[in-house]
Amino acid sequence: MAEQAAALAHRLRDGDAVLLTGDLGAGKTTFTKGVAAALGYAGDVTSPTFAIMQEYAAPTLLLHHIDLYRLDDPLQLEDIGFYEATDPDTPGAALVEWADLFPDEMPDDALAVRITAEGSKRRIVAEASGPRSKELLRAWSDRPSH
Ligand SMILES: Nc1ncnc2c1ncn2[C@@H]1O[C@H](COP(=O)(O)OP(=O)(O)O)[C@@H](O)[C@H]1O
Ligand SMILES: [Mg+2]
Repeated sequence: MAEQAAALAHRLRDGDAVLLTGDLGAGKTTFTKGVAAALGYAGDVTSPTFAIMQEYAAPTLLLHHIDLYRLDDPLQLEDIGFYEATDPDTPGAALVEWADLFPDEMPDDALAVRITAEGSKRRIVAEASGPRSKELLRAWSDRPSH
């Protein structure tokens, strides 16, 4: 998981959106921690379940970490700054936990990453929905990254 997160981290750039899905405890936050750590972010990365959105200013890339678990209406997305954070023209890359709760509200071009727990192992299946995320997925699949 850490290696895969690091490999993706090194391919991420401004405007990217990563949609993380999987059951509670699957590893969505752990994956995000791996991305931030690989980018040299030294601070804490915690589940933004209560804060809904957190930002991590890694040295080379700003990360918007969003957790939609506690939202119950898509109308709340505007208030929390979701559309701004996931806009391809907004600086930084977005990582969205529980993206599958509001599938119609996700950016058109995004990399969906589904994590499944299999004992202590984690299976990751990724799918891209547009030109940039396809390019990102291709680059991510062509590991190693560094
Ligand atoms: N290989 C693994 N990869 C990621 N997490 C793992 C792994 N094995 C065990 N875990 C545990 O699974 C849990 C994942 O939690 P978390 O990342 O918060 O999940 P989510 O954000 O999807 O709810 C953590 O307690 C972590 O220690
Ligand atoms: Mg989480």
